[in-house]
Amino acid sequence: MATSILSERKVFADRIGRIEVSQTMAVAAEAAKLKAAGVSLMDFGAGEPHFPTPRHIKDAAIAAIEANFTRYTVVPGIPELRKAIVERHACDFGSDYAIDETIFTSGEKLALFNAVQVLVEHGDEVILPVPYWVSFKDIIQYAGGTVVYLETEEAESFRITAEAIERLITPKTKAIILNSPSNPAGNVIDAADLERIVHVAHERGIYLILDECYVYLNYETQPGSGPVSAGKFAWAKEHMIVLGSLSKTYAMTGWRAGYALGPKKVIANLSKLQSQSTSNATSFVQKGAIAALAGSQECVSEFRAEFKLLRDYILAALKTIPEVTCTVPAGAFYVYPNVSAYIGRGGIKSATELATRLLHEGHVVSVPGEAFGTPHHIRLSYPVTRETIDEGVRRMKGFLLGL
Ligand SMILES: Cc1ncc(COP(=O)(O)O)c(C=O)c1O
Repeated sequence: MATSILSERKVFADRIGRIEVSQTMAVAAEAAKLKAAGVSLMDFGAGEPHFPTPRHIKDAAIAAIEANFTRYTVVPGIPELRKAIVERHACDFGSDYAIDETIFTSGEKLALFNAVQVLVEHGDEVILPVPYWVSFKDIIQYAGGTVVYLETEEAESFRITAEAIERLITPKTKAIILNSPSNPAGNVIDAADLERIVHVAHERGIYLILDECYVYLNYETQPGSGPVSAGKFAWAKEHMIVLGSLSKTYAMTGWRAGYALGPKKVIANLSKLQSQSTSNATSFVQKGAIAALAGSQECVSEFRAEFKLLRDYILAALKTIPEVTCTVPAGAFYVYPNVSAYIGRGGIKSATELATRLLHEGHVVSVPGEAFGTPHHIRLSYPVTRETIDEGVRRMKGFLLGL
């Protein structure tokens, strides 16, 4: 009988056993249960802007629907959109990509997932700096790759250097994933370090996958100098894949809008893979994305200015909690306080236990550092109101001091 044959056979492929549910999503699910039960939570879990999507972007998508722009499009995105992607990047960062060197995807996460799928094979090593965004590790492992962790020092603001990367390179190194500004610690790779890293990778034929999700949320650049993208090092283009997201830059997380920029043959393979999975990203989202990329960029600077104020606000609030320390994040919209002083108190043995009890007893949502590869931190996402910061930090302080 079919059922007995099935029960003797393994049901799930090995690859699905190599990954875990994204811990940020798991935290969100747990928090949602408490909210549904009527608990008032101070939520620092979700990594998304608290602003609505700007009017002109919404209008463009609505107009597209009204004009019945609701059918399949070409897989990598309509040419007008790919033109807007490469022009925006060239204008802001001095890169030089052609239209067939970019693909639009249903969120940057998909561009990353597919890039790793087309490049990484069983046995390949991928260098990943710690702390890392949760999905990098699982996406590498899903492809069969081995993650080689690059440890960094909190006292040096988690600095990533070419020398440290070089020490980890072996004949099996296929790629290096960098995320600057980073999720969760907000550390930024400085321009000189970045250029040296690009040299190291390019000279050895190693692919640099550059996650630029937060590239516009960089608070430490000098006026006039602006944020830096490795995309400007056109001489190394052959070995670089730049990944971009509209999610955080334009408050479009739910739209699922991202892209990859890279050498033509890599983009052709990403397009081939996408043609066998999602096909094109949603047609009218593409029209919204054109409005975002080609339209006024005022919203980007407004968002950035407000995030910077919120960063300073939450850092000041955290200072009121004894023995909690926090590096100043140079970018993105997270703070990554070190809570090690409280691990070991009140029966708490790990950051995961601390975050779980903080949620259930203090009613504050955070993500434990284990999700990002460091066991002494929690991540707080700060695109929230100042009232939420005040009340959330007050609750956190009460909970920690009560341990
Ligand atoms: C570092 C990093 N890369 C990529 C993404 C995913 O972006 P998208 O919403 O475009 O898939 C996120 C989202 O949190 C992120 O933090």
